[in-house]
Amino acid sequence: MATTDKPDSIFEIVNVGNGGLAFLDDYERHPKGTFKAIIDRTTQTTEAGRRPLWEGYAKVKDYARNTTGTRSAKQVSTRPRGGGFFSWLVQQRKPETVVEFGTAFGVSGMYWLHGIEAVGHGHLMTYEPNTDWAGFASENLASMSDRFTLTNGTFEENAARTLKEGTVGIAFIDAIHTSEFVNAQYKILRPYLAENAIVLFDDIHFSDEMRACWEDDIVKRPEIKASAQLGTRVGIALV
Ligand SMILES: C[S@@+](CC[C@H](N)C(=O)[O-])C[C@H]1O[C@@H](n2cnc3c(N)ncnc32)[C@H](O)[C@@H]1O
Repeated sequence: MATTDKPDSIFEIVNVGNGGLAFLDDYERHPKGTFKAIIDRTTQTTEAGRRPLWEGYAKVKDYARNTTGTRSAKQVSTRPRGGGFFSWLVQQRKPETVVEFGTAFGVSGMYWLHGIEAVGHGHLMTYEPNTDWAGFASENLASMSDRFTLTNGTFEENAARTLKEGTVGIAFIDAIHTSEFVNAQYKILRPYLAENAIVLFDDIHFSDEMRACWEDDIVKRPEIKASAQLGTRVGIALV
């Protein structure tokens, strides 16, 4: 699991001890029970069919996936086990603000809101430039909680207007998966992070370039106190 010589357990990073494992065990036994409403909403959104990708992708050079066409909610969204971890993480850390980009159809956002509602504290700030997908997200998120602000636009263009410095306890970077975008977005995000914030980077094995972005850029930054990988997909860093 370790990607550096810094502390390598996600539970060490989250600083809750092995109590965290009980949550995941419980989720494994009762996945449908714990997150049934979110799973049902994800299924309904997927049934709306494949919807057009945001046109901004067409400008990205040498992307590791097709940058045009359509996608369904199921194709692009966080799975229940990962989402379960997001809810658990919020319940452990009780952040003032969770930031995520992009929202897509609102699936990862529903898991963040599940955690926020469980602790009765916090607010989700989420950003999505695709107006069509943001419409679905708005309804999905509202079905969970009113503790969110969905901005129909990019994170880069809206961060300064919508965020306060030093307030973001958890951030999830899940937009265009290239080193250029992720490094630039992380730099914009950094002043808004609270002390000991957790930053999650999705799809760190999306391409060789994304792997290098995580291993050679992010993890080696001097302000990163600890880092680890969740499964094969998500990088988690304590900043
Ligand atoms: C992989 S999907 C996100 C999935 C979502 N987080 C989930 O797990 O349910 C990536 C999304 O990022 C959006 N996106 C791309 N660039 C963005 C940017 N600069 N700011 C915010 N969202 C962006 C895309 O339109 C797309 O909906």
